[in-house]
Amino acid sequence: MKKLLLLLCLSLLPAGVFAEPPPVFDVDREFYPYYPSLIKYEKSGAEFTPPEVCAECHAKQYEEWTGSIHALAFKDPVYQGELNLAVQAVGHEISRQCEGCHSPAGVVTGEIKGPGLKGLSPMALAGVSCDVCHSIVGTTHWQTPTHEPQNGSFIIRPGVDTPEGPQLRKMGPVAVSDDCGMGFHECDQSSLHLQADLCAGCHQVYHYDKHFPLEATYLEWKHGAYAQKTILCQDCHMVDLETFKRVADEFKKPERHEYRHYFNGANYLLYYLAAGAATKAGDEALAANIMKKYEMAVGRLQSAADLEVTPVYNNGQLGEVKVRVKNIRAGHNLPTSLTNIRQLWLEITATDEKGQVIMTSGAVDDNGQLPENTRLFNSDGMGDDFHFAVDPWVITAFSRHDTIPPKGHKEVYYGINAGTSPVVKLDVKLRYRQADQKVAEKLLANVPEDIDLNATYGLTEVPPLPVVDLVAKQVSFQTRE
Ligand code: HEC
Ligand code: HEC
Ligand code: HEC
Ligand code: HEC
Ligand code: HEC
Repeated sequence: MKKLLLLLCLSLLPAGVFAEPPPVFDVDREFYPYYPSLIKYEKSGAEFTPPEVCAECHAKQYEEWTGSIHALAFKDPVYQGELNLAVQAVGHEISRQCEGCHSPAGVVTGEIKGPGLKGLSPMALAGVSCDVCHSIVGTTHWQTPTHEPQNGSFIIRPGVDTPEGPQLRKMGPVAVSDDCGMGFHECDQSSLHLQADLCAGCHQVYHYDKHFPLEATYLEWKHGAYAQKTILCQDCHMVDLETFKRVADEFKKPERHEYRHYFNGANYLLYYLAAGAATKAGDEALAANIMKKYEMAVGRLQSAADLEVTPVYNNGQLGEVKVRVKNIRAGHNLPTSLTNIRQLWLEITATDEKGQVIMTSGAVDDNGQLPENTRLFNSDGMGDDFHFAVDPWVITAFSRHDTIPPKGHKEVYYGINAGTSPVVKLDVKLRYRQADQKVAEKLLANVPEDIDLNATYGLTEVPPLPVVDLVAKQVSFQTRE
C-alpha cells in the first residue's frame, strides 16, 4: 500500500524535472563542416602548395619525406582498396573521414570526390605532404565528440589575405628570422610542432559514427612511460635508426640537428610495393631512396622487442616453458594503430634429443594462414552484434586486445612433454606481418578501377606477404631439474 502511494506521489511530480540525458558523444556539425572528418579549414586566397615547390628551397626535407608512408598515404593501394569497400558499404559520406587524414588538402579544397587517383592534382595525390603539416595552426582535440584527439581534429590554414593580396604562412619550430621563406612564405614559430599534439589528430582513428577508438597510438603513448619523460613521436620517428635507439634507451631527446623527415615506422610492405613501382617506372634513384626506408622500417621493428625463454619445472620435471615478450623501444603499444589487422605472433618449435618435433605453434602454412593455436599479440574487432569484424566501419568494440604496452611485457606458457628425452631444444621467433594473407588479398582485389596493380606495381596476384622476425632465439633445457 505504501509503495502504491509512493508511486502515485512520484507520478504527480511536474514533468520536466528530470531532463533527458544528453548524448554521450555529441557532434557539433556546424563546428565540424567536414564531418565525419573533424578538420577545420581557414580559407583565404592563399592556396596549398605541392611538395615539389617546397623542394626548390628545402631539398633535404623533400628527399627525406619522398617515398615516406606520409608521401604514400593517399596513393597507397591497400588504403585505396579499403576506401573503395568503405564507400560501397556505407556511402560516399565516409570517404571524407578517411581522406581527412590520408589527404587533408584534397578534402578541404573539395577536389577529392571518392576512391581512385584519376585527374587529381599533385597536391591531392601528395597525401600527408609538407604543406599539410606546416599549415596546421591549431587543434580542436577537446571539442571532438569524445573530447580526445581524433579523425583530423586540427585547424589548417595555408596562409592569410592581406591588403597586398594572399600571403603564405608556414608554421615551424624555428625562431623567425628576417628573410625566413625568402619572400615565398612568411614564417610563424609554432610550439605545436614541438608537441605530439601535432600528430595526435591523425594518429587516433575513431569509428565514423559510433566514435569508438579503432586506432589509439597517441593515447597509448600519452598513457605510457615515454610521454612521462617528454620523449615525443618526433623524437623516434623523425630521426635515423641509431638516434632512435639512443633516444628510446636513454630517454634523452635528440639534438636539434638530428631531426629528419622520415616518418619511418613499421610498414615495410608499402615501401616494398612503392619501390617496385618506382623501378617499373624506370626511376632507379627513387627506388633506391625508398629501399633505404624499407630497410629502416625493418631495422626499427627489429629493435622494438626482445624475448626471454625460461623453463618451468614441476616436481623436478620440465612441464612448461615461459616466453616473455618485451616491448623495449616502441613508444606506444606493440603493435599499435591497426591492431586488429597487423599480426605479431610467436612461432615456437620444441624438438627432443633425436630432433623429433614434440610441440609446435605459430608456423605459417602453405596458404599463408596461421594455425588456430597461434599466440597473437594484436586485437580482434567486433561489430554491434558482438560478432568478429575486420572493417573499420563495422567495428564498434574489441573482443580481445592483446598488445604490449611501452616498456611492458606479456608472458605465454607452452606445455612440454619431452617423454624420455634428457634435453629439449626450442626455436622461438617473434614474427610480424602487415596483415593476414586473406585480408591483404581482399583489399588489393578491391582497388578502384583506375589503379592497375600489374601496370603500376608489377603484381598479377598477391604473393605471400613477407614476414619479418623481430627476434629469434634458440635455447636448450634439461628435462630434469
Ligand atoms: C584519424 C586519421 C585517420 C582516419 C580518419 C583514417 N585513417 Fe587510415 N590510417 C591512418 C593512420 C595513421 C594509418 C597508419 C597506421 C599504421 O601504420 O598502423 C592508417 C592506415 C590505414 C590503412 C593501412 C594501410 C597499409 O598500407 O597498411 C588502411 C587500409 C586505411 N588506413 C584505410 C582507411 C579507411 C578506409 C578509412 C576510412 C574509413 C581510414 N583509413 C580513416 C589514419 C587515418
Ligand atoms: C607529418 C608532419 C610533417 C610533414 C609532412 C612535414 N613536416 Fe617539416 N617539420 C615537421 C615537424 C614536427 C618539424 C619540427 C621537427 C623538429 O623538432 O625539429 C618540422 C620541421 C621542418 C623545418 C625546419 C627545419 C628542420 O628540418 O627541422 C622545415 C624547413 C620543414 N619542416 C620543411 C618541410 C618540408 C619541405 C616538407 C615536405 C617535403 C615537410 N617539412 C613535411 C612536421 C612535418
Ligand atoms: C623560395 C624558397 C622557399 C620555398 C619555395 C619554401 N621555403 Fe620554407 N623557408 C625558406 C627559407 C629560406 C627558410 C628559413 C631557413 C630554413 O629554415 O631553412 C624557410 C623556413 C621554413 C620553415 C621553418 C619555419 C619556422 O619558423 O620554423 C618551414 C616549416 C618551411 N620553410 C616550410 C616550407 C613549406 C611547407 C614550403 C612549401 C609549401 C616551403 N617552405 C617553401 C625558403 C623557402
Ligand atoms: C594529416 C594527418 C597526419 C598527421 C598530422 C600525421 N600523420 Fe603520420 N600518418 C598519417 C597517415 C594517414 C599514415 C598512414 C598512411 C598509410 O599507411 O597509407 C601515417 C603514417 C605514419 C607513420 C608510418 C607508419 C608505418 O606503418 O610505418 C609514422 C611513423 C607516422 N605517421 C608518424 C607521424 C608523426 C611523428 C607525426 C607528427 C609529427 C605524424 N605522423 C603526423 C597521417 C598523419
Ligand atoms: C620511443 C620511441 C617511439 C616513440 C616515442 C613513438 N614511437 Fe611509434 N614506433 C616506434 C617503434 C619502435 C615502432 C615499430 C614497432 C611498432 O610497430 O610498434 C613504431 C611504430 C609506429 C607506427 C607504425 C605502426 C604499424 O602498425 O605499422 C606508427 C603509426 C607510429 N609508430 C606512430 C607514432 C606516434 C603517432 C607517436 C606519438 C604519439 C609515436 N609513434 C611514438 C617507436 C616510437
